[in-house]
Amino acid sequence: MDSNVRPESMERITTPALADAFIEEQVAALQKQIGDGKVLLALSGGVDSSVVAALLIKAIGKNLTCVHVNHGLLRKGEAEQVIDVFRNQMKANLVYVDATDRFLDKLAGVSDPEQKRKIIGKEFIDVFEEEAKKVEGCKFLGQGTIYPDILVSNGVKAHHNVGGLPEKFGFELVEPVKLLFKDEVRVVGKQLGLPDNMVYRQPFPGPGLGVRCTGAITRDRLEAVRESDAILREEFAKAGLEGKVWQYFTIVPDYRSTGVKDGKRLWDWPVIIRAVNTKDAMTATVEEVPWPLLNKITQRILTEVKGVNRVLYDLSPKPCATIEWE
Ligand code: XMP
Repeated sequence: MDSNVRPESMERITTPALADAFIEEQVAALQKQIGDGKVLLALSGGVDSSVVAALLIKAIGKNLTCVHVNHGLLRKGEAEQVIDVFRNQMKANLVYVDATDRFLDKLAGVSDPEQKRKIIGKEFIDVFEEEAKKVEGCKFLGQGTIYPDILVSNGVKAHHNVGGLPEKFGFELVEPVKLLFKDEVRVVGKQLGLPDNMVYRQPFPGPGLGVRCTGAITRDRLEAVRESDAILREEFAKAGLEGKVWQYFTIVPDYRSTGVKDGKRLWDWPVIIRAVNTKDAMTATVEEVPWPLLNKITQRILTEVKGVNRVLYDLSPKPCATIEWE
């Protein structure tokens, strides 16, 4: 039987009890596959790699090494949460690499979106490879592949955060959630004790805030994206919209306009808010955010985020606009 095909008899994991049974079965299977070998895992903090990490910690403990690469394009608080959950709470072997300067130096002056993605992808693999060399005798590579990745990769690979790792290293793959759909991965993650904001996290592109700081990334504009995104998420959570709106974020384009503050003329950036709903990301509709909430977010961004003088709401559905701006 092809191990990449989900058997028809496999029950959909919808309840804690079914998740417990899956966890027990997978832990045993992982122990059998890995024995006393060592596993390396690129841990982004997204739900898929986090669930794989938690399963592997249960199965092989310290024989797992997680590598969390901070490319400087993460959302506010993300790296800190990965360290807190996996190193402090789950006692995992976690290597944290702050490669912010390295990524941002390589990206300086690069405005073409595809070029930016390529640089981020290549640099990620380079950093990961350097860390992999430091772990002696490691034969296995953990991956957060899920079933839709396999289905899509028959044709073109789905958006995958770190493409190309396995071929390059010649590791044996360890992919415990590869037959699960996203909603099942979440039920399993919850049962493994991962925090809600990790388990129900909205989709986040591999190149991170880099695709939302359009054009050539600068540190100050990137900061404006990160801070405005944090405000948006905080206010959506307070308004009870977390987990209800599929994806929401801010964009800061490489474009300035005039403004005025305290009698002084400004020449600053706009922040664009995007909030969309979709089933499969192929088409999307725009969330009808209540006006008072938009107003509140606007006021906070204009007072708390440096270098910004306008806030706009993106009303464009997909098609013809894509969800991301790059
Ligand atoms: P678009 O912008 O194509 O986005 O309408 C559809 C979904 O894919 C996410 N996305 C990405 N995810 N790497 C990723 O891992 C990427 O380069 C990337 N670009 C877009 C996007 O956030 C949305 O959920």
